[in-house]
Amino acid sequence: MTAAPHSLVRVDLPGRAYDIEIGPGLLGHAGARIAPLMRNRRVAVVTDSTVAALHLDRLRAGLAAAGLSMEALELPPGEATKGWPQFSRTVEWLLAEKVERNDVVIAFGGGVIGDLVGFAASVLRRGVRFVQIPTTLLAQVDSSVGGKTGINAPQGKNLIGAFHQPALVLADTALLSTLPRRDLLAGYGEVVKYGLLGDADFFDWLEVNGPALAGGDQAALIHAVTRSCQMKAEIVMRDETEQGDRALLNLGHTFCHALEAATGYSDRLLHGEGVAIGCALAFETSARLGLSSQEEPGRVRAHLHAMGMRKDLSDIPGDLPDAGALLALMAQDKKVLDGKLRFVLARGIGAAFLTSEVPRAVVMDVLTQALARRS
Ligand code: NAD
Ligand code: GLY
Repeated sequence: MTAAPHSLVRVDLPGRAYDIEIGPGLLGHAGARIAPLMRNRRVAVVTDSTVAALHLDRLRAGLAAAGLSMEALELPPGEATKGWPQFSRTVEWLLAEKVERNDVVIAFGGGVIGDLVGFAASVLRRGVRFVQIPTTLLAQVDSSVGGKTGINAPQGKNLIGAFHQPALVLADTALLSTLPRRDLLAGYGEVVKYGLLGDADFFDWLEVNGPALAGGDQAALIHAVTRSCQMKAEIVMRDETEQGDRALLNLGHTFCHALEAATGYSDRLLHGEGVAIGCALAFETSARLGLSSQEEPGRVRAHLHAMGMRKDLSDIPGDLPDAGALLALMAQDKKVLDGKLRFVLARGIGAAFLTSEVPRAVVMDVLTQALARRS
């Protein structure tokens, strides 16, 4: 593909509108983009040590080019950071840095840093603005957009948090070149989700261009990040706090959350890998219920396979609990309402919908057969 220009998606929420800028090299222009949001010349950056070692100097230079100086806090990388201890450390550091109501905090990292720093910004002095500079594919297409922020509790993932929209998102697609392939493909699980939930043409496009994207083709990355952000922005503008449509973004997540819990939120299964497997299982459930054609689950799995991704329970190493135990874990999902499991199912690729009318026996059956494929 030929080089494409940077692109821009606007999240037009009343009183809280912001831009998502997408393209390679944006880090070098971070100061020029962020300075207009600021009264003083100093920003507080929170990142993780892996991202800091690879990219913090370039962020510092990008800010300095517009006369901004920065102080940085480096947290340990990994999901375990998204809990109370590193959260309080972050809030205390921001207070020690004398971050005030008119200041801007930068979240520079993947979804872990974006979620934690966004939540810290939401409570600091009852709310300061923050800028997302996402550095993983997952964060660029999903977690940096839409204002869901938070941390994990011992009782479960993302149980403590707030809606707090960023003031700006800078998705520098060149940063993805240092991402380990496994993390890139996990993020691609969220990209596939957008095609499956609402844009069949985009899924067609991914079937053709996915391999180039995973190989680092910038034009393909820009297109995929842009289309994903457009779709997320449209849904968030309709339903910011998930009273309805926003739940469509959880395609695959009811299965995914149970699998993440069953694997102890460990690196046996990354979130985006669980989403991809969950999407395949959601399409299988849809086909079982006669909602979509019998061929579609196979088409979803074929694309995941062609991308070298995990696509079924047989791709998860180690033991898994039985179908009944997985179903019990699903019942703890945040989407359970009045004791009824809510699923995102599909009438076909690009045609997802939310339903509480899924017989438990059908889900048991899908899980039992998927577990049987492991042996
Ligand atoms: P992550 O933040 O843990 O990043 C994955 C790994 O990649 C980390 O080890 C990190 O140090 C490293 N890394 C980051 N950028 C890099 C780069 N450019 N080069 C090399 N290494 C780099 O994980 P993630 O997959 O980005 O995000 C997962 C988190 O996002 C989960 O906690 C999930 O719950 C959350 N999430 C939130 C939302 C939301 O709407 N807020 C949506 C989806 C997922
Ligand atoms: N990742 C789901 C959402 O933002 O609603």
